[in-house]
Amino acid sequence: MTDHSNASVREHRLDETYARELDAGDTLAPLRKRFDLSDRYYMDGNSLGPLSDDARETLDRAIEQWRTLGIKGWTEAEPPWFWYGERLGDRLAGMVGADPTEVVVGNSTTVNIHTLIGTFLDYLDGDSPPGILANELDFPTDHYAMQAQLRQRGYDPAEHLHLVESHDGRTIATEDVVTAMDEHDIGIVFMPSVLYRSGQLFDIERITDEAHERGVLVGFDLAHSIGVVPHDLSGHGVDFAVWCTYKYLNGGPGSIAGLYVNERHFDASPSLAGWWGHDKETQFELNLKFTPAENAGAWQIGTIPILSAAPLFGSTNLIEEVGVERIRTKSLELTSYLMYLIDERLADRGCAVGTPRDPDQRGGHVAMEHPDAEALSLALRERGVIVDFRPPNVIRVCPAPLYCSFQDVYDVVEITVEILDNGEHEPHVERIGGDQVT
Ligand SMILES: Cc1ncc(COP(=O)(O)O)c(C=O)c1O
Repeated sequence: MTDHSNASVREHRLDETYARELDAGDTLAPLRKRFDLSDRYYMDGNSLGPLSDDARETLDRAIEQWRTLGIKGWTEAEPPWFWYGERLGDRLAGMVGADPTEVVVGNSTTVNIHTLIGTFLDYLDGDSPPGILANELDFPTDHYAMQAQLRQRGYDPAEHLHLVESHDGRTIATEDVVTAMDEHDIGIVFMPSVLYRSGQLFDIERITDEAHERGVLVGFDLAHSIGVVPHDLSGHGVDFAVWCTYKYLNGGPGSIAGLYVNERHFDASPSLAGWWGHDKETQFELNLKFTPAENAGAWQIGTIPILSAAPLFGSTNLIEEVGVERIRTKSLELTSYLMYLIDERLADRGCAVGTPRDPDQRGGHVAMEHPDAEALSLALRERGVIVDFRPPNVIRVCPAPLYCSFQDVYDVVEITVEILDNGEHEPHVERIGGDQVT
C-alpha cells in the first residue's frame, strides 16, 4: 500500500499564502482547465462529477458517428458500439486492480447489485445459508436491492439480511464486521468501499480475508471510491463489485455503471440474463438458449446506452494520464488541509469533522457536521459553493483532485466563516423549521 503518512502528519498553516504554496507544488493543477466549471467552487464531485472537454469530445464523436454511420455504428464506429461495454471495462480494470476480462461496463449500479446479489445467492452451494451481511449506514438502494433479491427467493429479509451496527452513527468498525460474520449464518458479505455520508474507507483486504476464511463470498459497492482510491480487487480475491461512473469518473449524469466478477466465478449463471450478456461471437445467431459470455461481460443485460457510455472514454483519459495513485495522494492532502481548517476556523462556529482522520480510513470527501447543515448548505450554494446535504446534519465537501485546488479549500472555509458570522444561513433555518439536529 502507498505510504500516505505525509498527508496526515503535514503541519498545515492558516495563512492564505500557504494554500498558494501548495497549489504551486501541485502537478495535477493544470488539469483543471480541461473542465467546464460554471460554479466557482465545485465541491460535489462525489455526487456528480463535472463535464470535461475530453468527455464532451467522445460524446460528440458518438453523436457524429450516429449521424454519419447510423446502424453501421454498431460495427464500424470507433470503437464499435457493439464492444463498448468490454472496451470501457478494459479501461476501468486497472483502476480497480482487476484483469480486463473481470470488468465490464453496463446497466446501472442498482441493477448491478440486483444481478450480482441474485447471482451469488443462487451460486451458494446447497449447504450455505442464504444470509447476507451489510451495515446500517449503507446507501439505501443497496438494501432495497438485497431485500428484493432475498424476497424473490422466498427468504424474509428481516431474518436473512443482517446489519452491522454503528457505534457513533458515522462509521462501522472492521472488528464488528468480522464478529458479525461469526454471529449470523451468512453466505455473502456486501459492504461499501467508502460510506456515502461520513466518507469512511473500509478495509477491503481484511474483510475479504476474514470472509474467505469462513467460506463466505464478499462483494463491494465502490461508488464512492473508484477514480479517487486505488483498488486491488483481484489481488485481494474479492468475489464481485459494482460502481457508478458519474462521481469521481466524471462520466455524466446517469452515466453507465460498472461491475467486476472474479474470474473464479465465470461459471456462475447471471440472475438477470439478457442478450447483451450472451457470448458475443454467437449473439446474432439469436438462439433462444442463453449462452453467457465466458467473462464479466455475461452480466450485461440489454443494449448498452451508447450516449450514456460515450463520455466515459474521454473522462477516463484524464484519469489514465495521471493514474489513481497520484490522484489519491492529492486527495488526501486536500482533505487533510480541509479538516485542519474546519478544526481551526469552524469548530468554534458549530462545525465538526465527521470523517475518520486516519488516511487509511477515509475516502475522497469530508463530512462537515453542523446542527443547521441543510440551511448552511443552501447558503453556501448562494455564494457559489456547490456542496450537498445529507440528513440529519452532514454537509459533504469534496475537493476532487482533478479540478479543485488548495486555494478553493481555503476560500470555501473562509466563505463558511462569513456565512456563519453574518447569519446568512438563518433565513433558510426559519424556512426549513429550525435546528435539524439538537
Ligand atoms: C453507494 C451508492 N450505491 C449506489 C448509488 C446509486 O445507484 P444508481 O446509479 O443505480 O442510482 C449511489 C448513489 O449515490 C451510492 O452512493
